[in-house]
Amino acid sequence: MPLDSVNCYEDADRANAYATLEFANTYYLAFRDLPRILTEHVSGTRALDFGCGAGRSTRFLRKLGFQATGVDISDDMLRIARATDPSGDYRLVPGDNFKQFAAGSFDLVLSAFTFDNIPGGMKARIFRDLEKLLAPCGTLVNLVSSPQIYTHKWASFTTRDFPENAAARSGDRVRIVTTDHQDRRPVEDILCTDESYRAFYRQAGLEAVQVFAPLASGKEPYAWVSETRVPPWVIYVLKRTT
Ligand SMILES: C[S@@+](CC[C@H](N)C(=O)[O-])C[C@H]1O[C@@H](n2cnc3c(N)ncnc32)[C@H](O)[C@@H]1O
Repeated sequence: MPLDSVNCYEDADRANAYATLEFANTYYLAFRDLPRILTEHVSGTRALDFGCGAGRSTRFLRKLGFQATGVDISDDMLRIARATDPSGDYRLVPGDNFKQFAAGSFDLVLSAFTFDNIPGGMKARIFRDLEKLLAPCGTLVNLVSSPQIYTHKWASFTTRDFPENAAARSGDRVRIVTTDHQDRRPVEDILCTDESYRAFYRQAGLEAVQVFAPLASGKEPYAWVSETRVPPWVIYVLKRTT
């Protein structure tokens, strides 16, 4: 399969399994710091959740008081998002065409794990399009897997069967299995280093004003594996440069 056509979430079984995930284990560290980060960096409540999946991240934003619209390219995911949150706003964006939204109409664009499996050429184009949707003082929060997630073991994931991940370079395919849900088929992601992300941001007229690499303290009620030593996630807080 060419890299340009990867989206392992366009699959009913995968969507049903993914919908059971909430905020436990390794995912706890992805969402733990977001309320504080959003309070510090976002003014206004108009939010777009890019790659909303089954709606976990959109519901998270709605609970924080955002008027959040979730968008995704997977019908299977959106069907579950709407059923779980009937009063929410969940929309399909075929081909990542955002024409239904006016330029500058969001104070926040959140992308939670979405860029993990979007190939490089598409990343550049989508960052440019999302930048246009931001209000002049708007903020794009890009939460992604760290490169190290693919070479360690975690409370929520295993990479045991994919030793080849260690040799992957930015842009290469890597695989990981989520152990928090029933679907043990590997997810195929595209490795993207910090250097590559920053190059995409520059091309899109975005700059990282803060970057977080959350670690567990060891006091949380989860059976951590690598999480106290190695950050599984990276959270980029991005602003427009123009
Ligand atoms: C790992 S899931 C994360 C879902 C959600 N943000 C969450 O935190 O639970 C990634 C989602 O991104 C979606 N996605 C992948 N490529 C996309 C694209 N080019 N445009 C919009 N959504 C995309 C997938 O369909 C999937 O639902």
